[in-house]
Amino acid sequence: MEKKRVATLTLDDGRSIELPIIKGELGPDVIDIRDLGKLGMFSYDPGFLSTASCSSAITFIDGDAGLLYYRGYPIEQLAEEADFLEVCQLLLNGELPNAEQKSGFEATIKQHTMVHDQLARFFSGFRRDAHPMAVMVGVVGALSAFYHDSLDINNPEHRAISAHRLIAKVPTIAAMAYKYNIGEPFMYPKNKLGYVENFMHMMFGTPCEEYVPNPVLVRALERIFILHADHEQNASTSTVRLAGSSGANPFACVSSGIAALWGPAHGGANEAVLKMLAEIGDVAHVADFMKGVKEKKYRLMGFGHRVYKNMDPRASVMRRTCYEVLEELNLSDDPMFKMAIELEKIALSDQYFIDRKLYPNVDFYSGIVLRALGIPTNMFTVIFALARTIGWISQWSEMIADAERRIGRPRQLYQGATKRDFVPIEQR
Ligand code: CMC
Repeated sequence: MEKKRVATLTLDDGRSIELPIIKGELGPDVIDIRDLGKLGMFSYDPGFLSTASCSSAITFIDGDAGLLYYRGYPIEQLAEEADFLEVCQLLLNGELPNAEQKSGFEATIKQHTMVHDQLARFFSGFRRDAHPMAVMVGVVGALSAFYHDSLDINNPEHRAISAHRLIAKVPTIAAMAYKYNIGEPFMYPKNKLGYVENFMHMMFGTPCEEYVPNPVLVRALERIFILHADHEQNASTSTVRLAGSSGANPFACVSSGIAALWGPAHGGANEAVLKMLAEIGDVAHVADFMKGVKEKKYRLMGFGHRVYKNMDPRASVMRRTCYEVLEELNLSDDPMFKMAIELEKIALSDQYFIDRKLYPNVDFYSGIVLRALGIPTNMFTVIFALARTIGWISQWSEMIADAERRIGRPRQLYQGATKRDFVPIEQR
């Protein structure tokens, strides 16, 4: 029998406690600190740099080696061989589907692509110039008001139906957010199309002109969806889990994930990359811009990652896809792309970036690809949210089914005023 491993923590007052060491299937072991409370103490770890908040069997990242696996499958293989709905099944159910399961799942998702007609009226309550992510937070959250028939989170069948609804309806809502923003009529989903083609049809088609999909561009967007589908316990996923730990319904939880994703340090990065490139303006200004980065006046967006201290494996796939798309569209001389390549070249050979292990992340290239596909910058994070919905709902489902689930309730190190008595207003 394997010897039980422990870590011993000894305090300066001589008290000590043995904490079990738990072995992961892959990655570092963890010290189980749940008994720390017996010492009347908590751990302090702002930003969760050293804390695993849950156990999970969905996604594995080795940031030092630059590895990303979904349910054990390397991301590069999935991005090359699988389609997005297969990846959804893999993340949600744990295994790749066989042919029958695959077609059954596709049929189920197609059943749910339309949104309730009344949901469409929510859009007119927003200003036309609202950021589409603001619209997404509101409208996806509003789905909670439409599906009372299947909101029992303790019922696995209800959880599956909610997951299917989210996978199917988020693309429809995302395309509606875009159409509302540009003042074009909403396009109904077309169920004879594949998942990605259908999204492109709802985005780019109009009632007067059918959208004819280009297979190279469809495959590029499919890769973007696959690469962004899950990324273990990042800020938005942790938000979904925390919201869900209280028993909130899955639509509300996913809406909270969309809100967390919006920030520029997370899902807003690909939008920020394009803004940065527009500000630099010309390849001749790149060297000057990099000087400012090293003086810490601003950050090089699309570079660096909390977990990857090596090339982000998603970035390598996205880089190849970027070249394919630009070639297909005869955009290889695109000035934005040239600037990006120059930035990448300087950063990868500069000591500042080497010392800090700052490599391009997936968003450095995905912004350029999305722009080439004709998707406006304010929709970039929406595309990320669409793709990440499967990760959020898979992680949420795993958490609800986990026998160890408890409401998420972090502790704090209090540094405020000590007890004091109320002072009447005239004496303040
Ligand atoms: N440009 C320049 N310097 C950087 C950058 C950057 N993009 N990122 C980190 N640094 C420096 C930082 O100044 C610090 O230097 P020093 O040690 O001299 O103080 C050092 O690297 C460590 O930075 P940190 O802020 O402690 O690192 P973190 O792990 O907290 O931050 C990050 C990770 C992704 C927020 C950060 O790298 C960043 O702001 N990157 C730009 C935004 C971006 O591209 N985000 C997308 C992340 S990938 C998408 C996703 O998975 O959501």
